[in-house]
Amino acid sequence: MTDHTKPDYVTLEFPEPPEDRPYVIVNMVMSVDGRVVVEGNEQGLGSKVDQRLMRELRVHADIVMNGAGTLRAGGTSSRLGHADLDAVRSARGATGNPIAAVISGSGDLPLDRAFFTAEDFHAVVFAGAGMSAERRAALEATPREVIDLPAQDSVRWMLRHMRREMDARLLLVEGGPHLNGELFDAGAVDEYFTSLGPVVVGGRPTLTAVMGTHAPSLDATTQLDLVSAVPNPATGEVYLRYRRRGRSR
Ligand SMILES: NC(=O)c1ccc[n+]([C@@H]2O[C@H](COP(=O)([O-])OP(=O)(O)OC[C@H]3O[C@@H](n4cnc5c(N)ncnc54)[C@H](OP(=O)(O)O)[C@@H]3O)[C@@H](O)[C@H]2O)c1
Repeated sequence: MTDHTKPDYVTLEFPEPPEDRPYVIVNMVMSVDGRVVVEGNEQGLGSKVDQRLMRELRVHADIVMNGAGTLRAGGTSSRLGHADLDAVRSARGATGNPIAAVISGSGDLPLDRAFFTAEDFHAVVFAGAGMSAERRAALEATPREVIDLPAQDSVRWMLRHMRREMDARLLLVEGGPHLNGELFDAGAVDEYFTSLGPVVVGGRPTLTAVMGTHAPSLDATTQLDLVSAVPNPATGEVYLRYRRRGRSR
């Protein structure tokens, strides 16, 4: 029987990627007052259904990416974590979990976390040009590949590298807000998925889903078209999928 309280992200199809970067989708969970962090991370904002949807999107990904802030806050991985999702992925000819990626300028990363130690997924670190030799050497000493970014236009360079050198057709970005902001500023986000959780965080300002350094302006907004909105009365969540306006299917 079809479950109308949950979208089926496993069966989604995505357009062909551009030649110079992967097709980029971003996925976040947020409170109804627009916050994506409570007490330092996103714990408490999403239900088990949201967690499942996050993993369903990973089925499609060649690379699952986070910013260093998210890795520091709670750890990151690219695991599907469900046998049925592993089966779908391998039936499509993809071997194992997607590649996990993190981007860091400082190199200040928790090297004891699964991102660095796990053997059930590959992972790469995109390292900013200003990283100290000591930090870079510590990353090199892990089993992970370190890919040096140029000082200028690093995000576009990284996307090009993913497409051309890593053969990545779909990049799933799972935050955090500052990495999301750079990708939106680069005009490189094709779709935006968000789960809206029935909670008000309130309090002093905390991160919202897309952050940057410039003053917000109408000229810098990104217009989106709503693709789907699925309410779930059981969890109180709404699962939203948007596509960047002007991007054809
Ligand atoms: N609600 C949700 O769905 C959700 C999802 C993900 C994360 N979060 C939360 O968001 C918070 C983290 O977000 P955040 O915005 O602070 O961090 P973030 O976006 O995860 O990472 C930002 C960091 O990434 C690195 N970076 C980004 N662009 C770079 C570039 N072009 N070159 C080199 N390095 C680059 C820098 O690392 P360095 O500082 O190492 O230089 C930068 O400080 C956490 O609390 C996390 O729990 C929530």
